[in-house]
Amino acid sequence: MRVFVTGASGWIGSATVDELLAAGHEVTGLARSDASAAALEAKGARVRRGDLDDLGSIRAGAEDAEAVIHLANKHDWSNPAASAAAERAAVQTIGDALVGTGRPFLLASGVAGLTQGRPSTEADASPFHGPDAPRGGSENLALGFVDRGVAAVSLRFSPTTHGAGDHGFIAAIAAVAREKGVSGYPGDGANRWAAVHVSDAARLVALGLAKAPAGTRLHAVAEEGVPTREIAEAIGRAFGLPVASIAPDEVQAHFGWIGTFFGMDLAASSAVTRELLGWTPVGPTLIEDIDAGGYAPGASLAR
Ligand SMILES: NC(=O)c1ccc[n+]([C@@H]2O[C@H](COP(=O)([O-])OP(=O)(O)OC[C@H]3O[C@@H](n4cnc5c(N)ncnc54)[C@H](OP(=O)(O)O)[C@@H]3O)[C@@H](O)[C@H]2O)c1
Repeated sequence: MRVFVTGASGWIGSATVDELLAAGHEVTGLARSDASAAALEAKGARVRRGDLDDLGSIRAGAEDAEAVIHLANKHDWSNPAASAAAERAAVQTIGDALVGTGRPFLLASGVAGLTQGRPSTEADASPFHGPDAPRGGSENLALGFVDRGVAAVSLRFSPTTHGAGDHGFIAAIAAVAREKGVSGYPGDGANRWAAVHVSDAARLVALGLAKAPAGTRLHAVAEEGVPTREIAEAIGRAFGLPVASIAPDEVQAHFGWIGTFFGMDLAASSAVTRELLGWTPVGPTLIEDIDAGGYAPGASLAR
């Protein structure tokens, strides 16, 4: 299949491109820089130069493809509204380009805020609607295109899609620990984070492209919930730092923007996804990755 991938140079995107190429797909990756373009070409992908702020490049990429996988995100944590607005505009543009085609449109999403007090499942619809919602309400916006002839599928990645060289949430938490000289966890550290190794997540994306029916919500979750206290203990071991509870009313000040997420219970199940796709995660656990030095400064980008 000719697949257009936004965010193809990113953490999950580059692993996904590898999976898609190995499965025999023809991949065109969106690239906004020479470095990203060169990285994609080096692995045998085609390049479409463009940017989330250039919706013409997104539209053209979608129109030229037989399937779209949207993984790009600005991740501007100092201005989440800008990231959400760009996300929503991109999803609207891709959806509009695919109306009536029946083509697959897989988009990245997450599990934050889906449920309270229990692990989220694929049956839990996102409560986020409209431009002011987290991620610009993009999951519901995309799934709304199913009735208009677009095979939209949501890819809900674990809050930590981890591996050596990851620069995402766990890297941010580890950076706070090194800066403060203490590896903290929120409150009693009993709140949990779902986790998946990036290689398993990428394999799930390729399987989802091949097999997921329109309207499916897939959970890229290998571990249902790792307590934040265990995450902090592993970071403490990795960097030789003391481990301490951070009082709930100090979490935001201590951790900064990542505190919003680290203080949440983000456990999630993937039973439905495993059954539907025959997907079995096989990669290392989060704690194994931290213990192996995957979050040391300059850790290899090799997965
Ligand atoms: N990683 C996780 O644990 C996790 C968990 C839940 C959900 N997600 C979601 O999954 C998706 C992929 O995450 P990721 O961790 O792979 O993110 P990432 O490593 O930060 O990659 C982001 C990608 O978006 C591209 N991008 C950023 N700004 C852009 C712009 N203005 N125009 C065009 N492209 C732009 C980047 O291109 P450059 O290479 O040029 O910078 C990169 O390819 C995102 O939607 C993310 O929110 C991730």
